[in-house]
Order: sequence, then C-alpha cells, then structure tokens
Amino acid sequence: MGFNVAIDGPAGAGKSTIAKLAAKELDFIYVDTGAMYRGLAVHFLKKGIEPEETDRIAQACKEAEVTIGYENGIQQIYLNGENITGRLRDEKVGNMASKSSAIPQVREKLLELQRTLAKTKDVIMDGRDIGTCVLPDADVKVFLTASVRTRAKRRYEELVEKGIACTLNEIEKDIQERDERDSTRKIAPLKQAEDAVLIDSSEMTVNEVVKQIVALCKRD
Ligand code: DC
Repeated sequence: MGFNVAIDGPAGAGKSTIAKLAAKELDFIYVDTGAMYRGLAVHFLKKGIEPEETDRIAQACKEAEVTIGYENGIQQIYLNGENITGRLRDEKVGNMASKSSAIPQVREKLLELQRTLAKTKDVIMDGRDIGTCVLPDADVKVFLTASVRTRAKRRYEELVEKGIACTLNEIEKDIQERDERDSTRKIAPLKQAEDAVLIDSSEMTVNEVVKQIVALCKRD
C-alpha cells in the first residue's frame, strides 16, 4: 500500500494547483480524478448524448475505457487509447462531467481505477469523494475550500487570461450550481470526511496551503 493523501473540496478551491505542487515536493504521484470524470464526459459528448439522458450515459459507459498515463510528470487521460487531455477543460465537458458523475455506472467505472493507483503508489489524489469513499483509509485527508466569491474570482481571472469572454456573476452562478449538484447527489456526494483537516484557502497563498499539506504528510 502506498502513502495516500486525499484532497477533496468544491470546484475552484485550487485543489489541482495545490495537489500538483505538494506532490512535486513530496515526490508523490498526482492523480486528478476530476479529469477521469471529464474523460468519460468527452465520450458521452462525442456520441451526441445530452447530460439529462441518464440511460444513454449508463449504456455508453460500457464502451468507454479511461486510462491514465504520465508525460514529463504531467497526467494524461486516454479515452479508448486516444489522448484527450487537451479537451478536458472545456466548459461543456465540465458541465457534462458534473451531471454524469451522479450516475452510478459512471462512478463504478472509475472507482476501481482510482483504488488500484493508490494501492501501488504514493499518491495525492484530488476530487470530491476521495476521503469519504475512494480511499477511506487514506493516511492524510484534507478538505480544501474557499468562499464562493473567492473561487469565482480565481476562475474568472483564469478565463480572462485565456481570452475567454465571461462575467464574474456568470461564473459565480455556475460555481453555486456545481456546488449544489456535487453535494446533494445521492451517491458519493461532496462532503468533508470526519477525519479530514479543513483548510479554507480564501485568505491564504498557494504556498501557505502547500506548506500546510506537506507538513501534515511529514508528521504522520
Ligand atoms: O474537479 P473537476 O472540476 O475537474 O471535476 C469535474 C466534475 O467531476 C465535478 O463537477 C464532479 C465530478 N467529480 C466527482 O464527482 N468525483 C470526483 N472524485 C471528482 C470529480
């Protein structure tokens, strides 16, 4: 069994930025489980399925194989052998991932892959249900959050930098909807594990958060 660090939290809390840096410092593998849900979402969109078509999504799961690899230390997602990493951050893909991740067949499909990775390697895995469901025995659990306004601002700045037109209010509404969906779904909802350390990054720098997580890993 590797040393397992679970980082959960809502959209835009900075999980991937933080987890990537902490993984580098600890020389652990970073596993972005949201990217796996996004990988399956690409498959559903390719087939012309709408997020509301739950039966078609459950069916389409059967012919999708999501695998993970690393290129220069950066996680790559393959869908039936094709590297689709470049398509994952699309808003449409994020929306489909958020909706389709509530479907049991979608979660079952990815659970095994996530657990197998953690079994054999030292990993920092981020997502929504890692500490509560995927790795309930993780050595360190962190619930990373920030206020809705802070998260919306961060995402807004990211999109503006990429030259994507949007408004802060639009992004804030999107984040609120995603929080609601992720935390109220029946299976594996977003929730702080009882034994997770809560970190609110609203008033913290990236380095401060990374330092705190690395310290938690070294203490154990
Ligand atoms: O972290 P992200 O935005 O890339 O995740 C995309 C969607 O995938 C998110 O809205 C909810 C879902 N997800 C999940 O249900 N469980 C996880 N462990 C990770 C992501």
